[in-house]
Amino acid sequence: MEAEYEYFCRQVEALTGVHLASYKRPQMERRLRSFMGRVGVDGFVSLVCLLEHDARRLQEFKDFLTINVSDFFRNTDKFDELRERILKPAVARGQRLRIWSAGCSNGSEPYSLAIILEELGAPNGHTIWATDIDEDALRKAKAGVYRGYEIRNVDPARREQYFTRTGNDEWTIAERFHRRVDFAVHDLLAPTFPSGFDLILCRNVVIYFTEPAKDELYRKFSESLKPSGILFVGGAESIFKAHELGFESVAPFFYRKRAA
Ligand SMILES: C[S@@+](CC[C@H](N)C(=O)[O-])C[C@H]1O[C@@H](n2cnc3c(N)ncnc32)[C@H](O)[C@@H]1O
Repeated sequence: MEAEYEYFCRQVEALTGVHLASYKRPQMERRLRSFMGRVGVDGFVSLVCLLEHDARRLQEFKDFLTINVSDFFRNTDKFDELRERILKPAVARGQRLRIWSAGCSNGSEPYSLAIILEELGAPNGHTIWATDIDEDALRKAKAGVYRGYEIRNVDPARREQYFTRTGNDEWTIAERFHRRVDFAVHDLLAPTFPSGFDLILCRNVVIYFTEPAKDELYRKFSESLKPSGILFVGGAESIFKAHELGFESVAPFFYRKRAA
């Protein structure tokens, strides 16, 4: 069984790029069994066989696996745009930003924000609230310890400056960033949200939500934002009913709360 699981992990990594062996095995096995039940196979070897021959199932499996996956500066060009278009002018105006990273997973997203704010010379006083429904992900986020492949998007200069090598293929984010991000459990399907945010990031979270749940979420985000506050969404998550839900589009994947 051990050997079979190891074989499975190697094949999955080759097929999807996801480093399955880095996931806690009992939880992952439970989830994998449920996936196997859904697609009608009865073991790891038959699942590999299915994934090798069925491109649609392979995509479904990747989506299933990456539910928790995150990356520093995910979609780097969009993060550059966030820095240039939103954060830099706000810092220049002396604005103290209240930011919410909603569905923050392992912390890569809020820590990326904290790094950018530091690079922009932002003084203290900005707050980053980072939430997720998954307590395991939050534990990892709070620890701020990453494997090499998890910080592959961080260029070597930043890696040197903001991370300390704390083990073989293990990197820990600098202590000051821990203090700049406030992590908490929060369910985005909950009825009420806190308010007063200048910027909300909700990226790669809603793919498993139904259309009505998404609409409701975006409506609540609009209420949570200050006037002219910005919502930044994931690369495949354009909001088609933006106007109806209280937003105007500023650029692809950036929405501004509409004046009432
Ligand atoms: C793919 S990760 C995205 C992480 C990060 N935002 C990014 O773009 O890299 C999706 C995260 O959404 C979280 N999530 C899913 N449903 C949620 C819910 N109802 N409330 C809060 N977080 C949720 C998952 O636990 C997961 O950590």
